[in-house]
Amino acid sequence: VCLKMSYMKMRLLYISLVVLGALCLYFSMYSRTPFKEEPFVFKKERGNFLQLPDINCKQDPPFLVLLVTSSHEQMFARTVIRNTWGKEKNVNGKRIKTFFLLGATANKDLSKVVAQESQRHHDIIQKDFMDTYFNLTLKTMMGIEWIHRFCPQASFVMKTDSDMFVNIYYLTELLLRKNRTTQFFTGFLKLNEFPIRDKHNKWFVSKYEYPWEKYPPFCSGTGYVFSSDVASQVYEVSESVPFIKLEDVFVGLCLAKLKIRLEELHSEQTFFPNGLAFSTCRFKKIVACHFIKPRNMLSYWQALENSLEDECPAV
Ligand SMILES: *[C@@H]1O[C@H](CO)[C@@H](O)[C@H](O)[C@H]1NC(C)=O
Ligand SMILES: *[C@@H]1O[C@H](CO)[C@@H](O)[C@H](O)[C@H]1NC(C)=O
Repeated sequence: VCLKMSYMKMRLLYISLVVLGALCLYFSMYSRTPFKEEPFVFKKERGNFLQLPDINCKQDPPFLVLLVTSSHEQMFARTVIRNTWGKEKNVNGKRIKTFFLLGATANKDLSKVVAQESQRHHDIIQKDFMDTYFNLTLKTMMGIEWIHRFCPQASFVMKTDSDMFVNIYYLTELLLRKNRTTQFFTGFLKLNEFPIRDKHNKWFVSKYEYPWEKYPPFCSGTGYVFSSDVASQVYEVSESVPFIKLEDVFVGLCLAKLKIRLEELHSEQTFFPNGLAFSTCRFKKIVACHFIKPRNMLSYWQALENSLEDECPAV
């Protein structure tokens, strides 16, 4: 009996020690948070749509949806895009639709003008976050949410900017040739990028915002293309991924978590995030080119469309 009693005592002591240890660990973790402020977490349900475009994807699913980030002031750029590569089109019988992504502004006049523009063209997707450069992640995620909620029937999605030239003809051709329908993500691949720790740089990222030494593989935010199933997956995983204001890196973090690999669209370079001097033959064989001024867009586009049937000399 005596032996049994001491055994019970020992057991009780042991259990108490374990419980005490667990409690200590719990309190030490919660009282000493390493940061003064809570890290920002992306919330999927945050914000309301202010403008939605007029499209029924269920009835008439597009092959490719182009989502173009722009700001309120860039009305001319939007007009130019609507009249060039963003014009609704069928390429090889595949329907292509372009929508513009916008946030909100405190400027009442600009808000009004954009609301009118939306009523006229029905091609604006807008939510009520502040439209600033460092809210681009929110803007991109709004586009991804819109695909997930309103247009999962689309085959492909491209996210791009308003200072880009997009050759939808070549893009469609390459996507059809690639013959991929799911788990597909392509663009200008950035596989070895590091956070910039210089405070004076535009893309400075603090160790608080991103503590790791290296970025995950991602595609340049100037233009990337993915199968529409990726939109829903990125949307679902986004809340459990550390938030970063660089939208292309954020999407890269989501893809890494989803184990979706980035792929080249073609054996030759077709995405030009650093720009490329225009020539008709050159632009026939590219998908996207950065740094195109709105005033040059129309002539480049017309030159491209007028030469669709022409052969170019082999390079
Ligand atoms: C982003 O938008 C949110 C919501 O409107 C706003 O509170 C925040 O200040 C904006 N962030 C930046 C960096 O402008
Ligand atoms: C595309 O892929 C599917 C299966 O993934 C295959 O059945 C079909 O033949 C392919 N088409 C072309 C044109 O390669």
